[in-house]
Amino acid sequence: MISIKSGRLFIGELPASLLAKKFGTPLYVYDEETIRLKVRELSRGISFRPLKVYYAAKANTNLSILKLVREEGGEYIGVDAVSPGEIEAALKAGFKPEQVMFTSTSVTDEEMKFAIDKKVLVNCDSLSQLERYGRLNPGSKVCIRVNPDVGAGHHDHVITGGPDSKFGIWVGDVPKAFEIASMHSLKFVGIHEHIGSGILETAKFLEAMGVLLKIVEKNRDRLKDLEFIDFGGGIGVPYRPGQKPIGMKQFGEAVSSTFSSFCSGFGKKLALVIEPGRFIVAESGLLLCTVNTIKQTPKHKFVGVDTGFNHLIRPMAYGSYHPIELAECSGAEEEAVAVCGNICESGDVFTRDESGIAGRKLPKIREGDVLAIMVAGAYGFSMSSTYNSRPRPAEVLVNGKEARVIRKREDISHVLFGMD
Ligand SMILES: Cc1ncc(COP(=O)(O)O)c(C=O)c1O
Repeated sequence: MISIKSGRLFIGELPASLLAKKFGTPLYVYDEETIRLKVRELSRGISFRPLKVYYAAKANTNLSILKLVREEGGEYIGVDAVSPGEIEAALKAGFKPEQVMFTSTSVTDEEMKFAIDKKVLVNCDSLSQLERYGRLNPGSKVCIRVNPDVGAGHHDHVITGGPDSKFGIWVGDVPKAFEIASMHSLKFVGIHEHIGSGILETAKFLEAMGVLLKIVEKNRDRLKDLEFIDFGGGIGVPYRPGQKPIGMKQFGEAVSSTFSSFCSGFGKKLALVIEPGRFIVAESGLLLCTVNTIKQTPKHKFVGVDTGFNHLIRPMAYGSYHPIELAECSGAEEEAVAVCGNICESGDVFTRDESGIAGRKLPKIREGDVLAIMVAGAYGFSMSSTYNSRPRPAEVLVNGKEARVIRKREDISHVLFGMD
């Protein structure tokens, strides 16, 4: 687990300061036990069976994390893959093709051929894709993603339902999808929705569930081959102090009973599928960095570190709040600071909110201190880039007293890769 004992930050049984010294900074660190606990929380919280949890690999695609999730999830785990790269990663991590679903958007024929060759089920995001899929693979199984006209999420950029969203087949166009499918003798084994990311209210999830269940009910004659309904991911985690977790017991009970009564009415036991990414990995990870500069303007005391939005873009992209801890805190008095990165853009400040730079009260920081940007296990490394020609950090996985590198630190040769 991640804990603070007498002012020292620990990942498992290892002090963060020791990891920073041993592996250098910037460094992504993940706690194995936290990931295992989160996977178990889902299977225990949601009692409905058959249950399938398709881990959304985009949250963190590291092969060792995929293997860990597979190992802990056992027979009910799978992968939601959004690209050929993620399909390949899932298979390499030991998932079987039937445990993977390819859900993407603006999909090319080549990408679909890749999934078909790998025997992975394709979830079609548009009528155009369904038509092209039908021509490529007539008579096969298929799933469709529906935009249920319900959206939710922590920021506009991650709301994936409703008329402003590019995702899915619009709810009113579902009958057209059935026509296309019958022209190509496709078998509808699955129907899918994903309304957004970072949802902390069960009610919103249930509302969208209700819409999809109504669609299935209305079209039951066309859905004789249906095997599962996939309600997507989006389960949020608390980032800010005072934010409450979704409450897996209450969430699990509500989802299970809704689905169970639907199946009784439908007359067929379908599998319940969900696709959490953030929920499984967010709280397991942190980004360690070292303070190298402290400077003052009339408005802010800036604390400059050796990482930036190239490594963790969430504050810059969404104004997201990430807690920040000192690896070693001597209990000194607090002051409000702006923790900023080493990228040449003014937006490169980690302590932000929706309206811009926000001072964060932290114990007095000195140059050379190691900071940990917390709750960074999801959409951290996986959204990183080499912007400003800066290589990406290493990733380390901690299990109790053991720490191992699960992705090597990049160097400048990675930044220059493929160029003459
Ligand atoms: C189709 C789909 N499923 C699942 C997820 C996972 O969302 P989260 O990490 O919020 O659970 C996403 C995220 O974008 C998605 O697009």
